[in-house]
Amino acid sequence: MTLFDMTGKVAVITGSTRGIGLAIAERMAEHGAKVVISSRKADVCDQVAKEINAKYGAGKAASVATNISSKENLQHLVEESNRIFGKIDVLVCNAASNPYYGPLAGISDDQFRKILDNNIVANNWLISMVVPQMIARKDGSVVIVSSIGGLKGSTILGAYAISKAADMQLARNLACEYGPHNVRVNCIAPGLIKTDFAKALWDNPDNLKASTSRTPMLRIGIPDEIAGAAVFLGSAAGNFMTGQTMVIDGGATIS
Ligand SMILES: NC(=O)c1ccc[n+]([C@@H]2O[C@H](COP(=O)([O-])OP(=O)(O)OC[C@H]3O[C@@H](n4cnc5c(N)ncnc54)[C@H](OP(=O)(O)O)[C@@H]3O)[C@@H](O)[C@H]2O)c1
Repeated sequence: MTLFDMTGKVAVITGSTRGIGLAIAERMAEHGAKVVISSRKADVCDQVAKEINAKYGAGKAASVATNISSKENLQHLVEESNRIFGKIDVLVCNAASNPYYGPLAGISDDQFRKILDNNIVANNWLISMVVPQMIARKDGSVVIVSSIGGLKGSTILGAYAISKAADMQLARNLACEYGPHNVRVNCIAPGLIKTDFAKALWDNPDNLKASTSRTPMLRIGIPDEIAGAAVFLGSAAGNFMTGQTMVIDGGATIS
């Protein structure tokens, strides 16, 4: 048993079929947790769960397809996770949307609302569905994957950055509400990570240079470099941390 051991814990991770969510699910499984794999595509969820079971042992991973836009889907995710594994100890709200790059004057109302709904409101729905059982057990950890976009002004990521700043405040608010019940709520704020989601920011050499040339580590990150923070927050190592945002960005925000 180490501080980072997650044996006996059940973790539900939204958007865990690729990118940061997948890295978190894999590392949590490696550290002993049972994990629920979830994204919009059932076949891909099944395949990822199968691969984790093959790698870390049968019964480690289950698959529950979920679109975070749907409250019914989220309720189903919680019910299925409880049915399969009996409880949820760690919730990682990782999936998010950003359908628009450009100045705020050009964003449609539907795009703006989708960003706020998926990145803020849906997180609050899902957390509200899971926290009661955590309160009953007097133990639980909620992790919201925010972004350093929520810490800085932006000329192209405006609405998304607003939503990610709101996630940090959501964590602070819920940390105050649930702290007395020993339920922790924190954010992880990654910098630029090499995933499909951020492809526009690293896909060609000019964009990559623009994204990294003024950062201390002069490179973008990989999903696995975010996973350790989630293991920390989901394990005993993070037991006294709540309401905080862990910035993991190769120094991008300090330079
Ligand atoms: N990559 C970066 O540079 C970066 C930086 C800072 C923060 N982040 C944050 O990190 C989180 C994960 O992003 P990522 O870069 O790992 O993205 P990604 O590689 O594109 O993976 C996104 C995951 O979420 C799922 N997903 C997308 N929309 C969904 C929806 N409506 N409902 C349920 N699942 C959905 C995807 O599967 P399906 O498409 O099959 O549903 C996939 O499993 C996001 O919150 C993002 O804002 C990313």
